[in-house]
Amino acid sequence: MLYLFLLGRDPELSRLEVESVLEREKITFRICDEGKNVLIIDCNELKPEIIKEFGGIIKIAKVISNSGRFDQIEDNLEKANLYNGQNNKIEYYIDSFNTNLCSFVEDYLKNYFKGIGIKALYKKTNDPSKLVNKNILNKGINIIIFRNYIGNVVAISNPLEFKKRDLSRPEVDYMKVISIRLAKILVNLTKVKNGGILLDPFCGSGTILQEALLNKINVIGIDGDEKSIKQAEKNLNWLVKEYSLNSKFQLIKHDSRKLSEKIKENSIDGVATEPYMGPYIRKLPTLEGAKMLINELSGLYTSLLNELRKVVKVGCRVVIIIPKIRTRENKIVFLDFKAIAEKNSFILAFKPVPYGYKENKILREIYILEKI
Ligand SMILES: C[S@@+](CC[C@H](N)C(=O)[O-])C[C@H]1O[C@@H](n2cnc3c(N)ncnc32)[C@H](O)[C@@H]1O
Repeated sequence: MLYLFLLGRDPELSRLEVESVLEREKITFRICDEGKNVLIIDCNELKPEIIKEFGGIIKIAKVISNSGRFDQIEDNLEKANLYNGQNNKIEYYIDSFNTNLCSFVEDYLKNYFKGIGIKALYKKTNDPSKLVNKNILNKGINIIIFRNYIGNVVAISNPLEFKKRDLSRPEVDYMKVISIRLAKILVNLTKVKNGGILLDPFCGSGTILQEALLNKINVIGIDGDEKSIKQAEKNLNWLVKEYSLNSKFQLIKHDSRKLSEKIKENSIDGVATEPYMGPYIRKLPTLEGAKMLINELSGLYTSLLNELRKVVKVGCRVVIIIPKIRTRENKIVFLDFKAIAEKNSFILAFKPVPYGYKENKILREIYILEKI
C-alpha cells in the first residue's frame, strides 16, 4: 500500500523522524518517492492514529492513484469511493505539489459530488487546526496531489493537542524551553521503545521528558538548576495525571559533566537533549567573543559525551542540538562536534540536520549519534 506523508516545517528532520518511528514500530517500509515536503512510503496498512506518534508530520494520505493517464486516474478515483459520510452538504480541500493534475481532479470531484447528489464546496484554506475543528475527515474530504500521486487524507496532526500540552502545563519558561513538536521529534529520533529508559541531561522544565513519557518511555532528567528541577517535577506530575500515564520519571539536580555519579553504567536506551548553549545573546557577539563561547561549550560537550559513553548501551542513540554562532563580522563560529563524538565512542548516524531559521543569531544543528 502506498502512503503520502506531508512533512512539517523542517522536512529533512521529519523524513528522519518517519524512518525512525517506522523502524521503532517494526513496520517494514520502503521510501518510493519524495519531494521537498512529501514522502511516498510503501508499507502494509497503517492505522491513522499513528499520526499522534509524530512531531513533524502534518498529514498522512492513502494513495488512491499513481498514474499520469486521465482514463486511469478516473478509474482509480471511481474505485476509491471517496465520500461515505452522511451529510449531503460538505466541504472538500485539495493540497497540490509539483503537479499538473490539479484542475483535472477538481473537475472530477465537482462531477463526482453532483453525481451522488451532494452539495460540495471547494475550499482553499489549509490550516490543519481548522480542518481538525471542522472534523473534515468525517464531514468532507481532503485530497493531496503530488506529481501523479493522488492521496486521500486519512489523518491530520492536531495542532490543538500540542497547544494544550504547551499552554496547560503548570510551569514554562519561554526563554529556555524548546517547542513541543521539536521535543517529540528528538524523542522519536532516539528510537527508544516503550518501556525503555531515556535520559535528558539538561532537562530544564522537562519538555523532552514529557514527550517521552507520552510514548510510554521511562525517563531520567538531570539539571544543575534547582528551580528547573522543581518546574520539571510539577510539569511531569501534571502530565502523568492528565494523560493517566504509568511510565516512571526520575529528576536529579546534578552537574551533567559528572552524570555517571548518579546514573547506572550501561543502563540508558536513548538520550535526547537541548544542552546549555551559552548565555542569552541580545546582540551578535564579536568573533573573539564567539570563539571564547565555543571553546567553553566544547569543554562542556566533551565532558558530557565522556560521561554518556559510560551510562548508555551499545547502539544507543544520542540526539543532541549543537549551536553555531553568528558574529558581528558575519562569520560563523562552530565546534568540531564530530571529532568530540568520535573520541568518545560515538559515530554520526546521519549528517547533522540544520534546524530553525537561517537568520537566527544562534544556528542549530541536530546530531544523531550512535554508541559503538
Ligand atoms: C536550553 S535549557 C534546556 C531546556 C529544556 N530543553 C526545556 O525545554 O525545558 C539548558 C538547561 O541546561 C541546564 N544546565 C546548564 N549547564 C548544566 C550542567 N553543567 N549540568 C546540568 N545542567 C546544566 C540549565 O540549567 C538549563 O536548564
